[in-house]
Amino acid sequence: MKATVSKTVILSNRDRGFESHPLRQPNLPEQSAISGPKKSVSLVLAGFGHVGKAFFALLQEKLGPLRKRYGLDLSLRAILKSDGGFMPEGSLLEHRIVDLLACQTGGPPLWRAGLTVESALKKIDPGILVECTPSSLQTGEPGLSYIRAALENGWNVVTANKGPLVAAFRSLLNLAREKRLSLMFSGAAAAALPTLDVGLYSLAGAEVCSIEGILNGTSNYVLTRMGEGATFKEALEDAQAKGIAEPNPALDVEGWDTAAKLLLIANSVMGLELTLGDIKVKGITKISPASIEGSKKEGKALKLIGKISRAAGRWSAQVSPVAIKSGHPLFNVDGTNKGITFHTDTMGSVTITGGKSDPRGAAAALLKDIIHTFVSLP
Ligand SMILES: NC(=O)c1ccc[n+]([C@@H]2O[C@H](COP(=O)([O-])OP(=O)(O)OC[C@H]3O[C@@H](n4cnc5c(N)ncnc54)[C@H](OP(=O)(O)O)[C@@H]3O)[C@@H](O)[C@H]2O)c1
Repeated sequence: MKATVSKTVILSNRDRGFESHPLRQPNLPEQSAISGPKKSVSLVLAGFGHVGKAFFALLQEKLGPLRKRYGLDLSLRAILKSDGGFMPEGSLLEHRIVDLLACQTGGPPLWRAGLTVESALKKIDPGILVECTPSSLQTGEPGLSYIRAALENGWNVVTANKGPLVAAFRSLLNLAREKRLSLMFSGAAAAALPTLDVGLYSLAGAEVCSIEGILNGTSNYVLTRMGEGATFKEALEDAQAKGIAEPNPALDVEGWDTAAKLLLIANSVMGLELTLGDIKVKGITKISPASIEGSKKEGKALKLIGKISRAAGRWSAQVSPVAIKSGHPLFNVDGTNKGITFHTDTMGSVTITGGKSDPRGAAAALLKDIIHTFVSLP
């Protein structure tokens, strides 16, 4: 594993040539909202499943506040699914999700069978591609090709999809830098838990010596429910019904989703060059109710922990179920919550916990990255 300096989200907006706006302090009165020129941004959404639909609904909900608070005027110009897409003249946000889905089966002529992400990107003035297609940790596709096409055609990117970054982390970041465009992936790195924001921004200048995290809401939910008496199967079905499990839940419970997030966070925050093959992965599929009960009796909690640390000059990374003691900073992270502890050389240990593990939380992380692409912090 080679150490390099990652500057994923460190590029300032001025470097990228964007207008910047002062960010209003959260609790200031309404008159402090910015009154400067509005920035109009076109969006193309790839993937219209759980996360894509939650993002669409969130945009409709937040459009007014985004204009008022950040001067951002977002226009959703196209939505792409696996077999075609919606691309009207104006913004899709004027439509309702149910009406759009009805179009596909014979409603108003918004649906274009066979429309592809690549062709939509070429027909619309560049803005941001919002990438929410399924994660393939092996090939990165289809998201990898979509992100490359976006960057090649002058589009910034925000993504909830781990696959492309796991498959081609450094080459995608290099491409974004070469094109002076932004590629942000909070949505793929534990979404509503602000792992990258804290690691890159709040801990700037500190050396992150090791990271421990509960990074997968589904596994944590399953372990918590099993601790309450549910079987593994019941708990997993419950997580699927809530829409928090990956389309392929094996990724969650076998530990690969945690490994992918650990990779993205470590490569970004610690400047490493981890690949999935560098991470030892063991999931929770073999955990029995008896072992959870046994940990409880010892005053411990069984958690699926992703960890990266260094010993004798070598990095080691693993994902495995660990019985942690009550004083551990992640001990009380239960249910769909997630948590991460950064151990640093100068700032001590910093832990953040919480963050919604569901499509709306992922959508909110995408929206946050869109805001940060165009709005500079004061
Ligand atoms: N669910 C969560 O809470 C969550 C949280 C964080 C991150 N994520 C990540 O977000 C991404 C989306 O998750 P999801 O739960 O929304 O998945 P999902 O419900 O399965 O939706 C996937 C969407 O992608 C579309 N799609 C599939 N292949 C495509 C292609 N070749 N071109 C264009 N669109 C294609 C599908 O189209 P069709 O409708 O035509 O099949 C569907 O609309 C995944 O990468 C996941 O890892 C999910």
